[in-house]
Amino acid sequence: MNTLSSPRPHVLMISEITADGKLTLGKGVSSKILMRHMSHEAEILLHQTRAEYDAIMVGSSTIRIDNSFLTVRMVEGKSPLRVIPNALADLPEDSNVFDTSLAKTVLAVSEAAPAARCAAFREKGVDVVTAGAKHVDYTLLMKILAEEYNVRSLILEGGPTLNRYMLNEKLVDEIRLIHMPFIVGGDDTPSLVGGMRIGSENDMIRLKLKGTAMYGENLVTEYDVMY
Ligand SMILES: NC(=O)c1ccc[n+]([C@@H]2O[C@H](COP(=O)([O-])OP(=O)(O)OC[C@H]3O[C@@H](n4cnc5c(N)ncnc54)[C@H](OP(=O)(O)O)[C@@H]3O)[C@@H](O)[C@H]2O)c1
Repeated sequence: MNTLSSPRPHVLMISEITADGKLTLGKGVSSKILMRHMSHEAEILLHQTRAEYDAIMVGSSTIRIDNSFLTVRMVEGKSPLRVIPNALADLPEDSNVFDTSLAKTVLAVSEAAPAARCAAFREKGVDVVTAGAKHVDYTLLMKILAEEYNVRSLILEGGPTLNRYMLNEKLVDEIRLIHMPFIVGGDDTPSLVGGMRIGSENDMIRLKLKGTAMYGENLVTEYDVMY
């Protein structure tokens, strides 16, 4: 884990993933359906990790589709700071993640976000931070989280588009995959990293396997990202 003087948080990407590398049953489908088939032991691991980390971040499409809470529920412990990148602040204000009675939430917007939308979120008790001109700049966002929120560790829980931008900017330190023993298929079914196309084998992002364990029926693998 990084120290306090670190310029950005230590980032752990976590995903549940089928044997054919998919994150849901199809495009636009909630990952909660797949999660219903996760072992209790793996669910506990997810919530235990949330309780140990300072912050958790998921993409705006995941909030739209899954309406996630991102709180600690299955173990004792404090919920992490919830961070949602959404350049135009156009998510529904009544999404579960903006219920600040459950945990604190940061909405990361760009300079293009309409002032009225930002004000509406602030009225709900959501912290709105600006990071980036047109889109959210994740390197800047990580710096803001470290410096202004004292976030030293952050869980990145997808989806594939956000995973891609975070990896592209070399902001992911570790990856933990919870393997689901299913095959779902589908050319456009979300996979771990969306929209990234490499030019050659030199562009492959290298991972170093550092651990494996069984949580009930789920194999869990852990990697360091080498870039
Ligand atoms: N199995 C799992 O563990 C798991 C976990 C999470 C999600 N999922 C699934 O993944 C699916 C959603 O994934 P998704 O890939 O569609 O969306 P996503 O990654 O949840 O959301 C896309 C994110 O990328 C940002 N973005 C888009 N273009 C950008 C750019 N040019 N620069 C910077 N940021 C940009 C968006 O911000 P803006 O709002 O500003 O556009 C948004 O925050 C859902 O089906 C969900 O169930 C599965």
